[in-house]
Amino acid sequence: MPLQYQSGFGNDWATEALPGALPSGRNSPQRCAYGLYAEQLSGTAFTAPRADNRRSWLYRIRPAAQHRPFQPFDGATRWLSEFGTGPVTPNQLRWSPPPIPDAPTDFIEGVQTWGGNGGPGEHGGVGIHLYAANRSMQGRFFYNADGELLIVPQQGRLRLATELGMIEVEPLEIAVIPRGVRLRVELPDGPARGYMLENFGTALRLPELGPIGSNCLANARDFQTPVAWYEDVEGDFELIGKFTGGFWRAPIDHSPLDVVAWHGTHAPYKYDLRHFNAIGSISFDHPDPSIFTVLTAPSDTPGTANMDFAIFPPRVLAMEDTFRPPWFHRNVASEFMGLIHGIYDAKAEGFAPGGASLHNCMSGHGPDAGTFEKATAADTRQAHYIRDTMAFMFETRRVIRPTAQALASVQLQDDYYQCWQGLKKHFNPAKPH
Ligand SMILES: [Fe+2]
Repeated sequence: MPLQYQSGFGNDWATEALPGALPSGRNSPQRCAYGLYAEQLSGTAFTAPRADNRRSWLYRIRPAAQHRPFQPFDGATRWLSEFGTGPVTPNQLRWSPPPIPDAPTDFIEGVQTWGGNGGPGEHGGVGIHLYAANRSMQGRFFYNADGELLIVPQQGRLRLATELGMIEVEPLEIAVIPRGVRLRVELPDGPARGYMLENFGTALRLPELGPIGSNCLANARDFQTPVAWYEDVEGDFELIGKFTGGFWRAPIDHSPLDVVAWHGTHAPYKYDLRHFNAIGSISFDHPDPSIFTVLTAPSDTPGTANMDFAIFPPRVLAMEDTFRPPWFHRNVASEFMGLIHGIYDAKAEGFAPGGASLHNCMSGHGPDAGTFEKATAADTRQAHYIRDTMAFMFETRRVIRPTAQALASVQLQDDYYQCWQGLKKHFNPAKPH
C-alpha cells in the first residue's frame, strides 16, 4: 500500500482504513463498526494536563490482551537498561562505526547499548543505542513498555509497520515510536545501521521558541504521522516485549498490527532533518547549540531536559571576528554525538559517519588542533558554507554511563585524546595582539 501521512505535531489525529470504522461522538460504543474492539492506549497519566496528555483510542480486530503468557526472551542480549552505579571515566571517548553483522540479525537482535542513565523503573533517563541489522523481523512483533524510541538511521531505510500505520525512514530522517506501540521493523534496502535513543522519561516534544517567534527550527507541519493501516493475518507469531529492562516473548496467533481505525495523540511520527530551519548569529559569536534543538524531553526542572535531540545541519557561518567552530567548553550536561553523513565542523578527522563520541559532565572538549588552526586563520569577512553534513547530539542532564560492551569494543579509539595534543601554546605576555 502507498505510504500516507498526516502533517503536524501532537495533533489529535483521527484516521480510518475502512469507511465508518471510527465511531462518531463516542470512544467506546456498545458495538463497534465491522465487529472491531475498542481499546485505549494511554501514554501519559489519565490526569496529565491537557496540553501534555497523550492517549489514543484504537479500533482493532482483536484486543492487545489476546496472546499466550510471556516467558523470558534471550534474543536481545546486547540491549541493556542497567547502567551501573560506580565511577565513570571522565575521559573523552570516541568510537569508529560498528560493522554490519554477518549472521542473520534483525532490528531487535541488532541493538547494542552504548550508554545511558536513569532507568525504566523511575520513568527518567535514557538508553543510548547503536543498531546494525541485515534482515527484517520475521514472524515477530515488538513493543517497548520502558520508553519511547527515537530512531536515527545512518545507513539503509527502515520500514516501521506499526499498529497505528506504516512509516518509512531513510538516513537524514528520524522516527519516534511512542511507548507501548507494537511494530515490526523491516529492512527494504537490506543492511541497516543507525542510532537509537530510548527515552524513559516524559515524551519528546518540540522546544519552546521564546523570542525566536512562531517559526524556525523544526516546524510542526513537517512532522508526519501515518494514517491507519492494518493486516488481518493469522499464524504462529511471537510478540516480544521490553519491560523493566528485560525482554519477554509471548506466542501470538495473529498479527497485532490489526488496528483498522484510531484517533488520539499517542502516535508515531517521522521528520526529515533536511527541513530543519537552522538559525544562528548574524553579527558575532557562536551561540549555544541549544538553538539546534529538534525535540526535547523535559524533566521536572524547567529548562533542564531529561534529553535534548539537537542536530548540526548544513548552514552558513557569517559571524565576523569570531572563532566560528564550536568552542572549547565543559558542560554540566553530558553529550553523546553521532554523525549521519559528511564531516562535523569541529573535527578534521576521526569522527566518521556511523561513529560516536561521548563527552561527559565537565569533561573538556572542543575543536581539534587542525580545526583550531584553520578557524583562527580564516577571513571572517567571507561567509563559510557548511554543506553536505548532518551530525547530531543526544544531550542529557545526567551523566551518560558507557556500558562495558562499549568500553570493550574494538571500535573504541584509544588515541582520541591525541586530537587536542597538537594545540600549540601561543601565549606571550609581551605581545597583546
Ligand atoms: Fe560539547
